[in-house]
Amino acid sequence: MFFGATGDLAHKKIFPTLYAMVKKGRLDIPVIGVAFSSWTLDQLKERAKESIETYGGGINDKTALKKLLSLLRYVDGDYRNETTFAKLKEQLGSAKRPIHYLAIPPVTFGEVVEKLGSSGCADNARVVVEKPFGRDLKSAQELNKILHSVFEESRIFRIDHYLGKEATQNVLYFRFANSFLEPIWNRNYVASVQITMAEDFGVEGRGAFYEQVGCLRDVIENHLFQTVALLAMDPPVSTDAESLRDAKGAVFKAMRPVKRAELVRGQFRGYRKEKGVPIDSDIETFAALRLWIDSWRWQGVPFYIRAGKQLASHATEVLVELKNPPQRVFRDSEPKPGHSNYVRFQFNPNNAIAIGARVKTPGEGFTGHQTELFLSDDHHDDMTPYERLLGDAMDGDAMLFAREDQVERAWAVVEPILENHNPAIPYRVHSWGPAESDALIKGDGGWHAPSLGS
Ligand code: BG6
Repeated sequence: MFFGATGDLAHKKIFPTLYAMVKKGRLDIPVIGVAFSSWTLDQLKERAKESIETYGGGINDKTALKKLLSLLRYVDGDYRNETTFAKLKEQLGSAKRPIHYLAIPPVTFGEVVEKLGSSGCADNARVVVEKPFGRDLKSAQELNKILHSVFEESRIFRIDHYLGKEATQNVLYFRFANSFLEPIWNRNYVASVQITMAEDFGVEGRGAFYEQVGCLRDVIENHLFQTVALLAMDPPVSTDAESLRDAKGAVFKAMRPVKRAELVRGQFRGYRKEKGVPIDSDIETFAALRLWIDSWRWQGVPFYIRAGKQLASHATEVLVELKNPPQRVFRDSEPKPGHSNYVRFQFNPNNAIAIGARVKTPGEGFTGHQTELFLSDDHHDDMTPYERLLGDAMDGDAMLFAREDQVERAWAVVEPILENHNPAIPYRVHSWGPAESDALIKGDGGWHAPSLGS
């Protein structure tokens, strides 16, 4: 069952996901929508249809739609009320392994989790929780405490949709399915790592929500830190979920808390005119930071992360820059310090992996040029992140979900800069953010503008 059935997330993501799952034969159990909106089941079915039309690429399989609608149930009621949960228990009938998806604001978590427990709905059940998972270390710890009062960790699935992306999974696969990469994947060969998550649009009417979060909380401490963990982790001892999460957990543990001087905050011009945004807002719509991982493998290698709204392009890309050859044999072998040998992972707009190298230009002299070897360059995911993650949660596979230790550690790493920071610097719409962010990375060759693909 999913709480928040009449809400925005259900509308934009959940119904299209359920439809896609039915189409692929991955969903064959009743889906109980829960909300406090005085709706009827027919209204919910109408919403599902409209949602699939608008956000799910249209209805191209009428049989699947019919099937999904036949699986839908609806319970309307106040989450504070025990009778709501009695109705839910009744709807669950003899379900052996129910799964509860909390697509609701975190302030309502406590009430819902506690009542799921007291009504018996949580027996043998799993719970899926949406982001934001807290807004600082203390609130994340409180949320974990609430969840653990009813569900043990193995039954909690915290969604970070970045982990459901094909491209992030390919970082893991590419790193550990090949033998050529691991010997160089460390401080001896890697000069720096940079991640850019650029969006060329603004907050799209979500100003009031965005005011509560800002860029650091919205995408960096979760999506991009999870990406860092996949890039930096040691090989997992096996492919089970806990081994993988242990290896990632070790990276989170080794992340050094970020200092004020290692963060640049920006705000696009015009943000303060957005609906729900105060005229003197200091919320950052752009952030760039330098992160250190205090481990044997990564000591001294800076991880630069920048993300923002209204930037020059819409692309997400990781660039792992290798050190220059130890000796300069050819005069032109370092034309652009830092940008000649690298591994590039692009998550958006394409799913690409490419290696940068220099090759000799035909002719008499020993001069060369820069080339890129594409190892993969796909244009679309077979499955949306939500489809993958909901399917995994239903199968009880926690591999692609954030674990308690990771979410708490991620908050601890940004804790020193959440409130104690420099003011957000205004930047031009469709630029690369404030110039101050260039100074942060200047010594390491500067930011690499994400390639917009072939
Ligand atoms: C969400 C953020 O978690 O991720 C949004 O709240 C952001 O602000 C989105 O736009 C980006 O996700 P994706 O998959 O489009 O890169």
